[in-house]
Amino acid sequence: MAINYSEKIPNNVDLSSNQTLKRALEHWQPEFLKWWSEMGPENSKNMDVYLRTAISVETNGWAHFDYVKMQDYRWGIFLAPMDAGRKIGFGAHKGEEPWQEVPGEYRSALRRIIVTQGDTEPASVEQQRHLGLTCPSLYDLRNIYQVNIEEGRHLWAMVYLLHAHFGRDGREEGEALLERRSGDADNPRILTAFNEKTPDWLSYFMFTFNTDRDGKYQLAALTESAFDPLARTCKFMLTEEAHHMFVGESGISRIVQRTCEVMNQHKTDDVARLRSLGVIDLPTLQRYLNFHFSVTSDLYGSEISSNAASSYTNGLKGRFEETKIADDHTLEGSEYAYLDIVDDKVVEKRAQAITALNERLRDDWTVDVQSGIGRWNRVPEKAGIPFKFTLPHKGFNRKIGLFAGHHVSPDGHLLSEAEWTHKHNNWLPSAEDRLFIHSLMGRVIEPGKFANWIAPPARGINSQPVDFEYVRFN
Ligand SMILES: [Fe+2]
Ligand SMILES: [Fe+2]
Repeated sequence: MAINYSEKIPNNVDLSSNQTLKRALEHWQPEFLKWWSEMGPENSKNMDVYLRTAISVETNGWAHFDYVKMQDYRWGIFLAPMDAGRKIGFGAHKGEEPWQEVPGEYRSALRRIIVTQGDTEPASVEQQRHLGLTCPSLYDLRNIYQVNIEEGRHLWAMVYLLHAHFGRDGREEGEALLERRSGDADNPRILTAFNEKTPDWLSYFMFTFNTDRDGKYQLAALTESAFDPLARTCKFMLTEEAHHMFVGESGISRIVQRTCEVMNQHKTDDVARLRSLGVIDLPTLQRYLNFHFSVTSDLYGSEISSNAASSYTNGLKGRFEETKIADDHTLEGSEYAYLDIVDDKVVEKRAQAITALNERLRDDWTVDVQSGIGRWNRVPEKAGIPFKFTLPHKGFNRKIGLFAGHHVSPDGHLLSEAEWTHKHNNWLPSAEDRLFIHSLMGRVIEPGKFANWIAPPARGINSQPVDFEYVRFN
Protein backbone atom coordinates (compact mmCIF):
# COMPACT_ATOMS: atom_id res chain seq x y z
CA MET A 1 0.00 0.00 0.00
CA ALA A 2 2.95 2.33 -0.50
CA ILE A 3 2.06 5.65 -2.06
CA ASN A 4 3.50 6.22 -5.49
CA TYR A 5 4.81 9.80 -5.73
CA SER A 6 6.42 9.37 -9.12
CA GLU A 7 3.08 9.71 -10.89
CA LYS A 8 1.36 12.95 -11.78
CA ILE A 9 -1.28 12.14 -9.16
CA PRO A 10 0.27 10.43 -6.13
CA ASN A 11 -1.86 7.41 -5.26
CA ASN A 12 -2.00 3.97 -3.74
CA VAL A 13 -4.92 2.79 -5.90
CA ASP A 14 -2.86 1.64 -8.89
CA LEU A 15 -4.20 4.48 -10.96
CA SER A 16 -1.90 3.68 -13.91
CA SER A 17 -3.76 0.41 -14.48
CA ASN A 18 -6.92 2.32 -15.40
CA GLN A 19 -6.05 4.79 -18.15
CA THR A 20 -9.59 6.14 -18.58
CA LEU A 21 -9.89 6.97 -14.90
CA LYS A 22 -6.36 8.34 -14.81
CA ARG A 23 -7.09 10.65 -17.75
CA ALA A 24 -10.33 11.87 -16.18
CA LEU A 25 -8.59 12.72 -12.92
CA GLU A 26 -5.67 14.34 -14.75
CA HIS A 27 -8.22 16.50 -16.44
CA TRP A 28 -9.75 17.47 -13.09
CA GLN A 29 -6.31 18.15 -11.51
CA PRO A 30 -5.65 21.55 -13.17
CA GLU A 31 -9.22 22.60 -12.35
CA PHE A 32 -8.54 21.76 -8.72
CA LEU A 33 -5.26 23.71 -8.77
CA LYS A 34 -7.03 26.68 -10.28
CA TRP A 35 -9.63 26.52 -7.50
CA TRP A 36 -6.84 26.25 -4.90
CA SER A 37 -5.02 29.28 -6.23
CA GLU A 38 -8.26 31.32 -6.27
CA MET A 39 -9.86 30.07 -3.06
CA GLY A 40 -7.06 28.46 -1.03
CA PRO A 41 -5.06 30.31 1.66
CA GLU A 42 -4.43 33.87 0.56
CA ASN A 43 -0.89 34.86 -0.51
CA SER A 44 0.53 31.50 0.50
CA LYS A 45 1.86 30.34 -2.87
CA ASN A 46 5.55 30.95 -2.29
CA MET A 47 5.74 30.08 1.37
CA ASP A 48 7.78 27.09 2.50
CA VAL A 49 5.76 25.39 5.19
CA TYR A 50 6.80 22.59 7.53
CA LEU A 51 4.03 20.18 6.51
CA ARG A 52 3.24 16.56 6.94
CA THR A 53 2.66 14.52 3.81
CA ALA A 54 1.18 11.04 3.76
CA ILE A 55 3.76 8.53 2.56
CA SER A 56 1.88 5.36 3.48
CA VAL A 57 -1.53 4.49 4.88
CA GLU A 58 -0.23 2.22 7.63
CA THR A 59 -0.96 3.36 11.17
CA ASN A 60 2.72 3.61 12.06
CA GLY A 61 4.87 6.15 10.30
CA TRP A 62 2.38 7.26 7.68
CA ALA A 63 3.45 10.87 7.74
CA HIS A 64 6.61 12.60 6.62
CA PHE A 65 7.41 16.15 7.83
CA ASP A 66 9.41 18.60 5.78
CA TYR A 67 9.30 22.04 4.17
CA VAL A 68 7.02 22.12 1.16
CA LYS A 69 6.36 25.13 -1.03
CA MET A 70 2.60 25.59 -0.80
CA GLN A 71 2.05 25.74 -4.54
CA ASP A 72 4.07 22.54 -5.03
CA TYR A 73 2.07 20.42 -2.60
CA ARG A 74 1.21 17.01 -4.08
CA TRP A 75 -2.41 16.13 -3.37
CA GLY A 76 -3.12 12.47 -3.89
CA ILE A 77 -5.51 9.56 -3.56
CA PHE A 78 -5.02 7.29 -0.59
CA LEU A 79 -7.27 4.48 0.57
CA ALA A 80 -6.74 2.41 3.70
CA PRO A 81 -5.81 -1.21 2.90
CA MET A 82 -8.55 -3.63 1.95
CA ASP A 83 -9.65 -5.93 4.73
CA ALA A 84 -10.13 -9.28 3.01
CA GLY A 85 -12.27 -10.75 5.77
CA ARG A 86 -14.60 -7.80 6.07
CA LYS A 87 -18.36 -8.41 5.89
CA ILE A 88 -21.18 -5.89 5.81
CA GLY A 89 -21.83 -5.16 9.47
CA PHE A 90 -25.40 -3.90 9.65
CA GLY A 91 -28.73 -3.45 7.92
CA ALA A 92 -30.53 -5.73 5.49
CA HIS A 93 -27.25 -6.87 3.85
CA LYS A 94 -25.56 -7.76 7.13
CA GLY A 95 -23.13 -10.64 6.76
CA GLU A 96 -22.79 -10.28 2.98
CA GLU A 97 -19.61 -9.37 1.12
CA PRO A 98 -18.99 -5.62 0.95
CA TRP A 99 -19.51 -4.04 -2.47
CA GLN A 100 -16.54 -3.06 -4.63
CA GLU A 101 -18.90 -1.42 -7.13
CA VAL A 102 -22.01 0.67 -6.54
CA PRO A 103 -25.27 -1.32 -6.72
CA GLY A 104 -27.64 0.31 -9.20
CA GLU A 105 -30.48 0.71 -6.71
CA TYR A 106 -28.29 2.72 -4.29
CA ARG A 107 -26.45 4.75 -6.87
CA SER A 108 -28.17 8.09 -6.35
CA ALA A 109 -28.29 7.78 -2.55
CA LEU A 110 -24.55 6.99 -2.40
CA ARG A 111 -23.73 9.74 -4.81
CA ARG A 112 -25.59 12.21 -2.63
CA ILE A 113 -23.74 11.05 0.49
CA ILE A 114 -20.34 11.38 -1.23
CA VAL A 115 -21.14 14.77 -2.78
CA THR A 116 -22.42 16.15 0.53
CA GLN A 117 -19.29 15.00 2.36
CA GLY A 118 -17.07 16.20 -0.49
CA ASP A 119 -18.66 19.63 -0.50
CA THR A 120 -17.68 20.36 3.11
CA GLU A 121 -13.98 19.92 2.35
CA PRO A 122 -13.34 22.82 -0.07
CA ALA A 123 -15.99 24.83 1.81
CA SER A 124 -13.89 25.00 4.97
CA VAL A 125 -10.81 26.01 2.95
CA GLU A 126 -12.84 28.87 1.48
CA GLN A 127 -14.15 29.88 4.91
CA GLN A 128 -10.61 30.06 6.29
CA ARG A 129 -8.77 31.56 3.37
CA HIS A 130 -8.08 35.00 4.88
CA LEU A 131 -6.96 33.80 8.30
CA GLY A 132 -3.28 33.42 7.41
CA LEU A 133 -3.09 37.22 7.22
CA THR A 134 -3.88 37.51 10.94
CA CYS A 135 -2.11 34.47 12.38
CA PRO A 136 -1.22 34.66 16.09
CA SER A 137 2.10 32.83 15.48
CA LEU A 138 4.13 30.89 12.94
CA TYR A 139 3.16 27.70 14.74
CA ASP A 140 -0.54 28.48 14.25
CA LEU A 141 0.03 29.56 10.67
CA ARG A 142 1.65 26.24 9.89
CA ASN A 143 -1.23 24.38 11.54
CA ILE A 144 -3.97 26.15 9.61
CA TYR A 145 -2.13 25.48 6.34
CA GLN A 146 -1.79 21.84 7.28
CA VAL A 147 -5.54 21.64 7.91
CA ASN A 148 -6.35 23.47 4.66
CA ILE A 149 -4.04 21.24 2.61
CA GLU A 150 -5.65 18.14 4.08
CA GLU A 151 -9.19 19.40 3.49
CA GLY A 152 -8.07 19.83 -0.12
CA ARG A 153 -6.92 16.22 -0.08
CA HIS A 154 -10.28 15.13 1.35
CA LEU A 155 -11.89 16.70 -1.67
CA TRP A 156 -9.57 14.57 -3.83
CA ALA A 157 -10.68 11.51 -1.86
CA MET A 158 -14.35 12.12 -2.64
CA VAL A 159 -13.73 13.13 -6.26
CA TYR A 160 -11.78 9.91 -6.79
CA LEU A 161 -14.85 7.92 -5.70
CA LEU A 162 -17.10 9.98 -7.95
CA HIS A 163 -14.83 9.50 -10.97
CA ALA A 164 -14.08 5.85 -10.32
CA HIS A 165 -17.63 4.69 -9.59
CA PHE A 166 -20.21 7.13 -10.94
CA GLY A 167 -19.20 7.65 -14.54
CA ARG A 168 -20.28 10.81 -16.24
CA ASP A 169 -22.56 11.95 -13.39
CA GLY A 170 -19.60 11.56 -11.07
CA ARG A 171 -17.38 13.73 -13.28
CA GLU A 172 -20.05 16.42 -13.40
CA GLU A 173 -20.36 16.34 -9.62
CA GLY A 174 -16.57 16.66 -9.43
CA GLU A 175 -16.74 19.85 -11.46
CA ALA A 176 -19.63 21.25 -9.41
CA LEU A 177 -17.61 20.71 -6.23
CA LEU A 178 -15.13 23.28 -7.57
CA GLU A 179 -17.87 25.68 -8.65
CA ARG A 180 -19.90 26.15 -5.47
CA ARG A 181 -18.53 28.77 -3.09
CA SER A 182 -18.95 29.10 0.65
CA GLY A 183 -21.39 31.91 1.43
CA ASP A 184 -22.16 32.65 -2.23
CA ALA A 185 -25.71 33.93 -2.74
CA ASP A 186 -26.21 32.16 -6.08
CA ASN A 187 -24.12 29.02 -5.75
CA PRO A 188 -23.52 28.29 -2.06
CA ARG A 189 -22.06 25.19 -0.44
CA ILE A 190 -24.62 22.52 0.40
CA LEU A 191 -24.75 22.71 4.22
CA THR A 192 -25.50 25.86 6.22
CA ALA A 193 -22.60 25.63 8.67
CA PHE A 194 -20.24 25.66 5.69
CA ASN A 195 -21.68 28.93 4.42
CA GLU A 196 -21.06 30.77 7.70
CA LYS A 197 -18.09 33.09 7.90
CA THR A 198 -14.97 32.12 9.82
CA PRO A 199 -13.83 35.71 10.26
CA ASP A 200 -11.27 35.37 13.07
CA TRP A 201 -9.06 32.85 14.86
CA LEU A 202 -11.45 32.35 17.75
CA SER A 203 -14.13 31.26 15.27
CA TYR A 204 -11.56 29.11 13.53
CA PHE A 205 -10.55 27.24 16.67
CA MET A 206 -14.21 26.80 17.62
CA PHE A 207 -14.92 25.53 14.11
CA THR A 208 -12.14 22.94 14.17
CA PHE A 209 -13.17 21.89 17.68
CA ASN A 210 -16.88 21.49 16.89
CA THR A 211 -17.27 21.16 13.14
CA ASP A 212 -14.19 19.10 12.24
CA ARG A 213 -15.41 16.81 15.00
CA ASP A 214 -18.71 16.51 13.15
CA GLY A 215 -16.49 15.46 10.24
CA LYS A 216 -15.00 12.76 12.43
CA TYR A 217 -18.43 11.35 13.28
CA GLN A 218 -19.73 11.49 9.72
CA LEU A 219 -16.57 9.82 8.41
CA ALA A 220 -16.69 7.19 11.15
CA ALA A 221 -20.28 6.32 10.16
CA LEU A 222 -19.14 6.05 6.53
CA THR A 223 -16.19 3.78 7.39
CA GLU A 224 -18.91 1.23 8.20
CA SER A 225 -20.41 1.50 4.71
CA ALA A 226 -21.10 -1.61 2.67
CA PHE A 227 -19.56 0.27 -0.27
CA ASP A 228 -15.99 -0.74 0.47
CA PRO A 229 -14.09 1.99 -1.42
CA LEU A 230 -16.03 4.60 0.55
CA ALA A 231 -15.29 2.83 3.84
CA ARG A 232 -11.58 2.63 3.01
CA THR A 233 -11.20 6.21 1.85
CA CYS A 234 -12.98 7.55 4.95
CA LYS A 235 -10.83 5.43 7.19
CA PHE A 236 -7.67 7.14 6.00
CA MET A 237 -9.31 10.59 6.16
CA LEU A 238 -10.01 9.95 9.86
CA THR A 239 -6.30 9.65 10.64
CA GLU A 240 -5.79 13.15 9.23
CA GLU A 241 -8.87 14.55 10.98
CA ALA A 242 -7.44 13.93 14.46
CA HIS A 243 -4.94 16.77 13.98
CA HIS A 244 -7.71 19.19 12.95
CA MET A 245 -9.56 18.63 16.20
CA PHE A 246 -6.31 18.90 18.13
CA VAL A 247 -5.77 22.34 16.59
CA GLY A 248 -9.21 23.47 17.79
CA GLU A 249 -9.10 21.99 21.23
CA SER A 250 -5.56 23.11 22.04
CA GLY A 251 -6.18 26.51 20.43
CA ILE A 252 -9.08 27.31 22.76
CA SER A 253 -7.24 25.79 25.70
CA ARG A 254 -4.32 28.16 25.07
CA ILE A 255 -6.69 31.14 24.87
CA VAL A 256 -8.27 30.14 28.19
CA GLN A 257 -4.84 29.71 29.72
CA ARG A 258 -3.71 33.17 28.64
CA THR A 259 -6.92 34.78 29.92
CA CYS A 260 -6.58 33.01 33.27
CA GLU A 261 -2.95 34.19 33.59
CA VAL A 262 -3.99 37.80 33.05
CA MET A 263 -7.00 37.42 35.39
CA ASN A 264 -4.69 36.25 38.17
CA GLN A 265 -1.95 38.71 37.41
CA HIS A 266 -4.38 41.65 37.62
CA LYS A 267 -6.73 40.03 40.14
CA THR A 268 -9.78 40.79 38.06
CA ASP A 269 -12.66 39.12 36.27
CA ASP A 270 -14.03 42.40 34.98
CA VAL A 271 -14.83 41.99 31.29
CA ALA A 272 -14.03 45.55 30.24
CA ARG A 273 -10.75 45.50 32.15
CA LEU A 274 -9.73 42.16 30.64
CA ARG A 275 -10.57 43.39 27.19
CA SER A 276 -8.50 46.49 27.72
CA LEU A 277 -5.65 44.17 28.71
CA GLY A 278 -6.02 42.52 25.31
CA VAL A 279 -7.30 39.07 26.32
CA ILE A 280 -10.60 37.33 25.61
CA ASP A 281 -12.89 37.18 28.65
CA LEU A 282 -14.27 33.73 29.46
CA PRO A 283 -18.00 34.63 28.98
CA THR A 284 -17.21 35.67 25.38
CA LEU A 285 -15.57 32.29 24.79
CA GLN A 286 -18.71 30.62 26.15
CA ARG A 287 -20.88 32.58 23.68
CA TYR A 288 -18.69 31.52 20.76
CA LEU A 289 -18.92 27.95 21.97
CA ASN A 290 -22.73 28.21 22.12
CA PHE A 291 -22.83 29.47 18.56
CA HIS A 292 -20.52 26.87 17.04
CA PHE A 293 -22.02 24.01 19.02
CA SER A 294 -25.57 24.83 17.91
CA VAL A 295 -24.73 25.53 14.27
CA THR A 296 -22.76 22.27 14.09
CA SER A 297 -25.60 20.35 15.81
CA ASP A 298 -27.76 21.21 12.83
CA LEU A 299 -25.39 19.33 10.51
CA TYR A 300 -26.76 16.02 11.79
CA GLY A 301 -30.18 16.83 10.38
CA SER A 302 -33.66 16.13 11.74
CA GLU A 303 -34.06 14.05 14.86
CA ILE A 304 -36.45 11.71 13.07
CA SER A 305 -35.47 10.87 9.52
CA SER A 306 -36.66 8.22 7.10
CA ASN A 307 -33.67 9.06 4.94
CA ALA A 308 -31.29 8.12 7.73
CA ALA A 309 -33.30 4.94 8.28
CA SER A 310 -33.01 3.81 4.68
CA SER A 311 -29.29 4.70 4.51
CA TYR A 312 -28.85 2.36 7.46
CA THR A 313 -31.09 -0.45 6.29
CA ASN A 314 -29.48 -0.36 2.86
CA GLY A 315 -25.98 -0.52 4.35
CA LEU A 316 -24.79 2.88 3.09
CA LYS A 317 -24.03 4.55 6.43
CA GLY A 318 -23.66 2.86 9.80
CA ARG A 319 -23.59 4.10 13.36
CA PHE A 320 -20.49 5.44 15.12
CA GLU A 321 -18.36 2.38 15.94
CA GLU A 322 -21.06 0.10 14.57
CA THR A 323 -19.00 -3.06 14.90
CA LYS A 324 -18.30 -2.40 18.59
CA ILE A 325 -21.99 -2.10 19.48
CA ALA A 326 -23.49 -5.24 21.02
CA ASP A 327 -26.89 -5.53 19.38
CA ASP A 328 -28.47 -7.11 16.30
CA HIS A 329 -27.23 -4.31 13.94
CA THR A 330 -30.61 -4.14 12.26
CA LEU A 331 -32.35 -2.14 15.01
CA GLU A 332 -35.60 -4.00 14.62
CA GLY A 333 -37.88 -3.33 17.54
CA SER A 334 -35.41 -1.10 19.40
CA GLU A 335 -36.13 2.45 20.48
CA TYR A 336 -34.16 5.63 20.97
CA ALA A 337 -34.94 8.71 23.07
CA TYR A 338 -35.16 12.18 21.56
CA LEU A 339 -36.55 15.57 22.56
CA ASP A 340 -39.59 17.29 21.14
CA ILE A 341 -41.75 20.28 22.03
CA VAL A 342 -45.26 19.63 23.25
CA ASP A 343 -47.54 22.36 24.66
CA ASP A 344 -44.69 24.82 25.08
CA LYS A 345 -42.55 22.34 26.94
CA VAL A 346 -39.50 20.29 26.01
CA VAL A 347 -40.40 16.64 26.52
CA GLU A 348 -38.58 13.36 26.01
CA LYS A 349 -40.13 10.94 23.52
CA ARG A 350 -39.12 7.58 22.13
CA ALA A 351 -38.94 6.65 18.49
CA GLN A 352 -38.00 3.54 16.56
CA ALA A 353 -34.21 3.57 16.79
CA ILE A 354 -33.86 3.15 13.05
CA THR A 355 -35.58 6.50 12.44
CA ALA A 356 -33.53 8.30 15.12
CA LEU A 357 -30.03 7.65 13.74
CA ASN A 358 -29.28 11.31 13.10
CA GLU A 359 -30.07 12.04 16.72
CA ARG A 360 -27.94 9.16 17.87
CA LEU A 361 -24.91 10.37 15.88
CA ARG A 362 -25.46 13.89 17.22
CA ASP A 363 -25.52 12.45 20.76
CA ASP A 364 -22.29 10.50 20.15
CA TRP A 365 -20.64 13.69 18.91
CA THR A 366 -21.99 15.67 21.88
CA VAL A 367 -20.38 13.26 24.35
CA ASP A 368 -17.04 13.81 22.58
CA VAL A 369 -17.49 17.60 22.57
CA GLN A 370 -18.35 17.44 26.26
CA SER A 371 -15.13 15.64 27.13
CA GLY A 372 -13.11 18.27 25.26
CA ILE A 373 -14.87 20.94 27.30
CA GLY A 374 -14.00 19.01 30.44
CA ARG A 375 -10.34 19.34 29.45
CA TRP A 376 -10.73 23.10 28.90
CA ASN A 377 -12.28 23.40 32.35
CA ARG A 378 -9.13 22.08 33.99
CA VAL A 379 -7.33 25.29 32.97
CA PRO A 380 -9.37 27.74 35.11
CA GLU A 381 -9.60 25.08 37.81
CA LYS A 382 -5.80 24.83 38.03
CA ALA A 383 -5.55 28.62 38.05
CA GLY A 384 -8.03 28.78 40.95
CA ILE A 385 -10.64 30.61 38.88
CA PRO A 386 -14.26 29.58 39.49
CA PHE A 387 -15.47 29.30 35.90
CA LYS A 388 -16.79 26.32 33.99
CA PHE A 389 -17.67 26.08 30.31
CA THR A 390 -20.95 24.28 29.74
CA LEU A 391 -22.76 23.05 26.67
CA PRO A 392 -26.03 24.72 25.80
CA HIS A 393 -29.20 22.63 25.64
CA LYS A 394 -29.53 20.70 22.38
CA GLY A 395 -32.56 22.78 21.40
CA PHE A 396 -30.65 26.05 21.72
CA ASN A 397 -30.37 28.13 18.53
CA ARG A 398 -31.37 25.30 16.23
CA LYS A 399 -32.47 25.91 12.65
CA ILE A 400 -33.04 22.31 11.60
CA GLY A 401 -35.21 19.61 13.15
CA LEU A 402 -37.88 19.71 15.84
CA PHE A 403 -36.47 22.79 17.58
CA ALA A 404 -36.36 24.91 14.44
CA GLY A 405 -38.71 27.88 14.77
CA HIS A 406 -38.62 27.70 18.58
CA HIS A 407 -36.48 29.63 21.00
CA VAL A 408 -34.79 27.60 23.72
CA SER A 409 -32.48 29.05 26.36
CA PRO A 410 -29.08 27.39 27.03
CA ASP A 411 -30.59 25.79 30.16
CA GLY A 412 -33.44 24.28 28.16
CA HIS A 413 -36.44 26.57 28.70
CA LEU A 414 -38.78 27.52 25.91
CA LEU A 415 -38.85 31.29 25.42
CA SER A 416 -41.20 33.73 23.76
CA GLU A 417 -39.98 35.75 20.81
CA ALA A 418 -39.71 38.81 23.06
CA GLU A 419 -37.70 37.02 25.73
CA TRP A 420 -35.35 35.65 23.08
CA THR A 421 -34.87 39.08 21.54
CA HIS A 422 -34.17 40.52 24.95
CA LYS A 423 -31.72 37.86 26.08
CA HIS A 424 -30.02 36.22 23.13
CA ASN A 425 -27.02 38.57 23.20
CA ASN A 426 -26.10 37.03 26.55
CA TRP A 427 -25.82 33.67 24.86
CA LEU A 428 -24.56 34.25 21.34
CA PRO A 429 -21.69 36.49 20.19
CA SER A 430 -22.98 40.03 19.76
CA ALA A 431 -21.84 42.46 17.10
CA GLU A 432 -19.79 44.11 19.84
CA ASP A 433 -18.13 40.81 20.78
CA ARG A 434 -17.25 40.19 17.17
CA LEU A 435 -15.78 43.67 16.80
CA PHE A 436 -13.68 43.16 19.89
CA ILE A 437 -12.36 39.81 18.67
CA HIS A 438 -11.68 41.36 15.29
CA SER A 439 -9.70 44.14 16.96
CA LEU A 440 -7.33 41.56 18.49
CA MET A 441 -6.42 39.98 15.18
CA GLY A 442 -2.94 41.11 14.14
CA ARG A 443 -0.20 39.14 12.52
CA VAL A 444 2.63 37.60 14.51
CA ILE A 445 5.29 35.88 12.43
CA GLU A 446 8.47 36.07 14.48
CA PRO A 447 9.49 32.50 15.41
CA GLY A 448 8.58 31.78 19.04
CA LYS A 449 6.41 34.91 19.43
CA PHE A 450 2.66 34.69 20.13
CA ALA A 451 -0.18 37.19 20.05
CA ASN A 452 -1.05 38.55 23.49
CA TRP A 453 -4.42 36.76 23.63
CA ILE A 454 -3.10 33.21 23.28
CA ALA A 455 -0.53 31.19 25.24
CA PRO A 456 2.22 29.26 23.43
CA PRO A 457 1.54 25.54 22.96
CA ALA A 458 3.04 23.04 25.39
CA ARG A 459 5.16 21.57 22.58
CA GLY A 460 5.91 22.05 18.91
CA ILE A 461 5.04 19.99 15.85
CA ASN A 462 6.82 16.67 15.27
CA SER A 463 9.15 17.23 18.26
CA GLN A 464 10.39 20.55 16.87
CA PRO A 465 10.75 23.38 19.38
CA VAL A 466 7.93 25.89 19.80
CA ASP A 467 10.14 28.64 18.35
CA PHE A 468 10.94 26.59 15.22
CA GLU A 469 10.63 28.44 11.92
CA TYR A 470 7.47 26.61 10.84
CA VAL A 471 6.88 28.88 7.87
CA ARG A 472 9.49 30.58 5.68
CA PHE A 473 8.38 33.53 3.60
CA ASN A 474 9.93 34.02 0.21
FE1 LIG B 1 -12.00 16.98 5.94
FE1 LIG C 1 -11.01 18.44 8.99
